[in-house]
Amino acid sequence: MTPHGDPRPMTARSGGALTGTAAIPGDKSISHRALILGALAVGETRIDGLLEGQDVLDTGRAMAALGAEVIRHGPGAWSVHGVGVGGLAEPDRVIDCGNSGTGVRLLMGAVATHPIAVTFTGDASLNARPMGRITDPLALFGARAFGRSGGRLPLTLIGASDPVPVDYTTPMASAQVKSAILLAALNARGPTIVTEREPTRDHSERMLAAFGADIATERTNEGHVITLQGQPELRPQTVAVPCDPSSAAFPVCAALIVPGSDVLVPGIGLNPTRAGLYETLREMGGDLTYENPRDEGGEPVADLRARFSPDMRGITVPPDRAASMIDEYPILSVVAAFAQGVTEMPGTAELRVKESDRIDAMARGLRDCGVAVDEGPDWWSVAGRGPGGVPGGATVAARLDHRIAMAFLCLGLAARAGVTVDDAGPIATSFPAFIDLMRDLGATFVQGDAR
Ligand code: S3P
Repeated sequence: MTPHGDPRPMTARSGGALTGTAAIPGDKSISHRALILGALAVGETRIDGLLEGQDVLDTGRAMAALGAEVIRHGPGAWSVHGVGVGGLAEPDRVIDCGNSGTGVRLLMGAVATHPIAVTFTGDASLNARPMGRITDPLALFGARAFGRSGGRLPLTLIGASDPVPVDYTTPMASAQVKSAILLAALNARGPTIVTEREPTRDHSERMLAAFGADIATERTNEGHVITLQGQPELRPQTVAVPCDPSSAAFPVCAALIVPGSDVLVPGIGLNPTRAGLYETLREMGGDLTYENPRDEGGEPVADLRARFSPDMRGITVPPDRAASMIDEYPILSVVAAFAQGVTEMPGTAELRVKESDRIDAMARGLRDCGVAVDEGPDWWSVAGRGPGGVPGGATVAARLDHRIAMAFLCLGLAARAGVTVDDAGPIATSFPAFIDLMRDLGATFVQGDAR
């Protein structure tokens, strides 16, 4: 089932080359943060290029339920009238975050230091995901959580009425955990310190600084140490959301594996904490070129051109790069299937607790398509079959996971017998325009099991 309706099977078949310009929607991570920080500032924040995917819309609805005024002015153009740090109100209904781990985890952080009770729930995927990684550090601020076994949703969080700042080292590389703590820290008097051994995406830190918070990051032998002074008055901002490198990954990777393709992605976000996939693809021999590098909304961006690359080779992806491409492993494994030799992906345990167990979901689907995959608890590897060498012909399960659905639809464009995804519905959580955008580039996507 999709989060919001009946399953929508979709089939991808090989056809012509993919060519043209791909206008990628706004960054999902930045969109969530803009809505939340806008709600915590005093006054009107304007957002341009907001991703209007289901995940972000659910966060917008949540901020409204918590007392902010959230208004849509036109496509991607939104404003948030914030209530200020400490000003969130207790909602009179359950907050449903749908499929979004980022949404619920960041919201739990913001709520944890307000003296209110909030009940969170989500779809079957989200309600199966671990939340102890969030509620444990939030308990140090004085918040209390009552969830299902394993701390899973549905869960009620009772925010601290007299929150204290914390000093916490994140046990796993997770921007969601780091960001939940920073958002909680906003309403705790004094400095909160978060240490992360491996750097993760830093959009929260960048945006908090832009909203006027006193925040500093220091590189030490222990890792990145982030210090945030509590109880700032956040100043409303105009946020220009750059396009999402994680969404761009799908047309870019499809171009690399579909013969004759040449696709341009303008304004792709190249924040180094997000750009690991592109480095990896180049090391594999992918024909990627950057044009016109510039800064947009405090984030580095460039125009990226991707061309069919018949000479790609498998590599070992350095494990210390995993955090900077954590959402891109599903589509990387598709490219790896069309490369020569084996691609090893160590240090990827976090993939097992995403919207689905992404190692398991990709491994099963790839095997059904004729590609050999090995796996362990925190690693996996794909044996490439070379350009044009993937049989395909399977119907694979999307498992309520947008990135699994998009990855296999891209695979189907280059596999000999196409691929059917049992449910393309979840794609709407992050990239509602995916099907149309890919068709405009030349992709053959047919509704139903039409192989
Ligand atoms: C995100 C962080 C990542 C990523 C997710 C978005 C964020 O999760 O997988 O899609 O916006 O902070 P983790 O921080 O749990 O790795």
